[in-house]
Amino acid sequence: TTYKVGYFVGSLSSKSINRELSKVLLKVAPADLEFTEIPIGNLALYSPDHDANYPPEAVALKEAIRRSQAVLFITPEYNRSIPGALKNAIDWASRPWGQNAFDHIPAAVIGASVGEIGTAVAQQSLRAVLSFCNARQMTAPEAYLKYTPELFPGNGEVTSQATKTFLTTFMAEFRDHIERVLTVLPRHPE
Ligand code: FNR
Repeated sequence: TTYKVGYFVGSLSSKSINRELSKVLLKVAPADLEFTEIPIGNLALYSPDHDANYPPEAVALKEAIRRSQAVLFITPEYNRSIPGALKNAIDWASRPWGQNAFDHIPAAVIGASVGEIGTAVAQQSLRAVLSFCNARQMTAPEAYLKYTPELFPGNGEVTSQATKTFLTTFMAEFRDHIERVLTVLPRHPE
């Protein structure tokens, strides 16, 4: 079996280091994980006024999550939290009330920063949000990455063998987490 993983890049930057990290993760992931990016940059700002009639971009967002058996968040830290664009996407996906797309979904979070603590505070903030959204989060291992251009030279490469091994383990653990959750809570995306 293969598992369909939808992934969110929390940055809208054209030079995003987290997008670069996403390329690394896709390269080191187990072969039975199948990845699709779920875009967040085309969404209007969420308002409950839309609940009765979701715009096409938000319908597409929710369908992309529904088609996924798990979700992976690769996010920067903005002002010790997650970027507004990512929070906005999560808010859209969680509504209308009773139609939360994240309910019981296997999930993992990871991020890279230019700062020393490697998005640790943003990830705690995201974990609180995902808890309320009732996602089944992988709690270990945690992954806080400090970006340097020497470590991540581009094209999904990583120069440190220790970092590569760590990220390979992270993705293997995520795969096992997905399998464990789906054993109890099956998801059958069409
Ligand atoms: C940052 N940055 C940052 N870094 C950090 O470690 N903790 C933080 O709280 C913040 N806050 C923050 C706010 C805003 C508005 C910006 C634009 C940046 C720096 C951040 O780590 C750096 O810009 C990364 O390159 C962001 O990731 P992406 O967008 O390149 O993936």
